[in-house]
Amino acid sequence: MRIENPSIVSALTALSVELQHGIALSQMTSLGIGGTTDLLRLKRHESIPDLLKLLDANGIPHKFLGGGSNLLVGDGELPFVALQLVRPEPDVVIEGNFAKVDAAADLGRTVTFCAKNDLGGMEGLIGVPGTVGGALRMNAGAYGMQIGSYVREVKLYRAAGRKIEILSGEQVSFEYRHTSFAPDDMMLAVTLELPAKPFKEILQGIRICNEKRRSSQPLGQKSAGCIFKNPPGASAGRMIDELGLKGHSVGDARVSDRHANFFVNAGKASARDMLTLIADVRERVHEAFGVGLENEVVVWNA
Ligand code: EPU
Repeated sequence: MRIENPSIVSALTALSVELQHGIALSQMTSLGIGGTTDLLRLKRHESIPDLLKLLDANGIPHKFLGGGSNLLVGDGELPFVALQLVRPEPDVVIEGNFAKVDAAADLGRTVTFCAKNDLGGMEGLIGVPGTVGGALRMNAGAYGMQIGSYVREVKLYRAAGRKIEILSGEQVSFEYRHTSFAPDDMMLAVTLELPAKPFKEILQGIRICNEKRRSSQPLGQKSAGCIFKNPPGASAGRMIDELGLKGHSVGDARVSDRHANFFVNAGKASARDMLTLIADVRERVHEAFGVGLENEVVVWNA
């Protein structure tokens, strides 16, 4: 979708929003898949309510883009614009056991920055690509921890009330890869309360998690992490593997040889290829195990 109306363009400038025309979202997603649209880069949280009023008044649909690491975007010209926060400097501020983190901060860099300040707890998230805002929305987790456990306060734009609000951690429910945020809420910043630990000890934990991840996941390849959620008490990856589906492909969309719940873009996969592969694997798992796998990956317009 393109914004060409000069009065909208100048209103965006007045709101400190940078308009980038015709951005291929394939360049902004870890899967390397996605069509084209205008990208609106937001420099000030405070301008978001006015920006969304402007978009609504002009009938311009939008979606919030974080780090693009858990996202499958449809092919071709997209019928919405993408909004993305510009990362401020500094993006993480430490006060005692609290880390105040902008939603646009890189997750891995945040984990290591906190570690250097002797704050641990998030070692499991090392190696998970994406932003802190994306991790928060999905309640990202690995190796027995999840980010939600450390959340004390969230600053967000709430689409329902059309304003910026601050919620305490207790007001949000964090479940396995799911939160009580509405789909059109936009994460802006989070305060984490982290356990004090000596840097050396945290580093050891980080090394162990890094090693486990390297040995079991296809880190160098284009993927969106796990495609399906694990059903209660079972592993989607193990079930897909047991069906002998590693390497199974549709076009360049392929079930990873290393971890069967990672589907990789081995070349020029389209969203259509990836969706066909997802549907095919889901059906085979259902036939064999009677389990309906749910997407973990977020799908836009595909
Ligand atoms: N397994 C296989 N074959 C495979 C993959 C896994 O047999 O191809 C077996 C493993 O040997 C293991 C079991 O299945 O016995 C579980 O595998 P793994 O430890 O890799 O964990 P997972 O359940 O597949 C979950 C998360 C990952 C997270 C890891 C580590 C989900 C959907 N996946 O994977 O998160 O990194 O645990 O904690 O919850 C993600 O969210 O995108 C993601 C990758």
